[in-house]
Amino acid sequence: MHGHMHAMVGQVQAAAQKAGVEIDFVLQVGDFEAHRHEEDLETMCSPAKYRKLGEFAHYHSGQATFPWPIHFIGGNHEPYGFLDRLKAGQAAENCFFLGRVASVEIQGLRVVGLSGIERARCLGGRPPIGGKGTKNYVGFTEDEVLQAASAGPADVLLLHDWPAGVVDPLDAEQFRYGHRAGGVDSIGNASARLVVDELRPNWVLCGHMHRSYRTEIRHRDGSRTSFAGLAKVGTPAAVAIFAVEEGRIVEVTKAQAAGNALP
Ligand SMILES: [Fe+2]
Repeated sequence: MHGHMHAMVGQVQAAAQKAGVEIDFVLQVGDFEAHRHEEDLETMCSPAKYRKLGEFAHYHSGQATFPWPIHFIGGNHEPYGFLDRLKAGQAAENCFFLGRVASVEIQGLRVVGLSGIERARCLGGRPPIGGKGTKNYVGFTEDEVLQAASAGPADVLLLHDWPAGVVDPLDAEQFRYGHRAGGVDSIGNASARLVVDELRPNWVLCGHMHRSYRTEIRHRDGSRTSFAGLAKVGTPAAVAIFAVEEGRIVEVTKAQAAGNALP
């Protein structure tokens, strides 16, 4: 989302209208950018050109309100000074930070979340927020990975970066260009994959790559996890709508996602 709250609200509303459904709640996959004010920006890891207040401040001050509850995890561009002090809970009206590690029930669905990305320097533990070096706050720790991996059962797993090994070799060509290009082997991380393999959720939803992708992850016990990589807000396929049908979560917006649209 990168602070584009108004565009996100518009895209969800348009997708819901197109699909002919009502939205019960929204799950967001990180890089939400919940900056309340300029000081929050100082605890975000980001190049200076992207260090912008964004639209969350409107929702925090009450000038704007999300039309449905939105639950978000953290990515690698967040005001972790604010989020780590909040720990988990309400960030604005109808807007909830799930925490560094989450295991919650939302309207009957078991949702597990892991904030941050894999960063070797953080795996052993992060320094307390408040010092210099915002890069040192964006990684999850080994403890958090293990907590998430044992937080099941999960219907939905929210991760920011993708798990390793999800891209079908047949789709490799489309990952050679665009945001975070670098070939299939460079996509995703082993920690996220470990969490997916341990939890074997119905769905895993991810952001970070700024591109839409759908596939299935097959587990050794024969079960399968459906994978959705979501594009950046403001581009097509940034939003996916799901419904619960006979105890399974099915994607309503399949037609939009099928193209695996490049950013
Ligand atoms: Fe990211």
